[in-house]
Amino acid sequence: MSTSKRILSGIKPSGDLNIGGYAGALSQFVKFQHEFESFFFVPDLHAVTVAQDPKELHQRSREIAAYYVAAGIDPEKSTIFLQSQVPAHAELGWIMETQAHFGELNRMTQFKEKSDGKEGVSASLFTYPALMASDILLYQATHVPVGEDQTQHLELTRDLANRFNSRFGQTFIVPEAIVQDIGCRVMGLDDPHKKMSKSNPNQASYILMLDEPAAIRKKFSRAVTDSDGQVRYDWESKPAVSNLIELYSLFAEVSTEDVERRFDGQGYGAFKKELAEVVIAKLQPIQQRFHEIVNSPELDEILKRGARKANEEAGKTLLAAKKAMGFVTFD
Ligand code: TYM
Repeated sequence: MSTSKRILSGIKPSGDLNIGGYAGALSQFVKFQHEFESFFFVPDLHAVTVAQDPKELHQRSREIAAYYVAAGIDPEKSTIFLQSQVPAHAELGWIMETQAHFGELNRMTQFKEKSDGKEGVSASLFTYPALMASDILLYQATHVPVGEDQTQHLELTRDLANRFNSRFGQTFIVPEAIVQDIGCRVMGLDDPHKKMSKSNPNQASYILMLDEPAAIRKKFSRAVTDSDGQVRYDWESKPAVSNLIELYSLFAEVSTEDVERRFDGQGYGAFKKELAEVVIAKLQPIQQRFHEIVNSPELDEILKRGARKANEEAGKTLLAAKKAMGFVTFD
């Protein structure tokens, strides 16, 4: 078993990526790739827990992989792959379902939110966290960078790893979540109490990774603030402004105190204008690289190479887990 520091994480190809996913996940992947041996995957099997149009799933899966490369993940150093090209995920996913209790899956807040009031909820939406545990444990990841909304799934992953290890002998590394203070929960521009999400019908509530500069300027100019007029970081009394300060801090790579100092006494107009410019400046090169690569043979090669490496790594862990459980294996 590997004892080096390893990360694994991914972004579901289930809709257009917004800057919340960039803040909470993608920008962290780019940063951590230098510190850890890294596996970044496209959880396409997770996307199909709700109905997907096949053409869109196909294109969005390529898009997420293209964002990884465009944002600065080095495919020579990190392994980038599609989950559906590594069958071990589904197989260990099944094994994890045998370890997960119905009650603990039933407590997952994301399941509650996503199934609430819906007809025809798939069984896979319910068992989804067991598959997520499998994604992580297959690579013996020591750390998993995620936004705040995934921490409950990470806790379950840890419980399942511990449960399996104590029943069948030490097999999996018990991973830790890495949740950054800044950017781990980007809220909607229209409502600081709701996560920024593309499922919000109000398009002005989120900024997409591919938004044009004019749209970004317009959306920030309309972002809700408060009546106090001070650019001050305080989630308790100023959630909307604090959300914008975090975005500025993340995109300009300065501290929240620096943001407060810079806009001291200037009011929200100037602050929002500059915020739009720092976001545009960061997104433009990513957008350009994204368009170059998204439908290119270069991306195919990266994904093929990634799948080979991922299959090798995942295969080792799956075999160890099956042996530990008593399945007949020949190696
Ligand atoms: P997903 O695709 O919903 O989101 C991908 C990552 O982006 C983070 N994120 C946010 N962070 C801050 N503010 C926001 N508004 C925001 N929106 C999204 C999420 O926290 C997440 O880190 N189940 C996972 C995908 C997954 C996975 C895994 C992740 C499947 N297997 C194994 C890590 C490891 C999900 O649906 O993320």
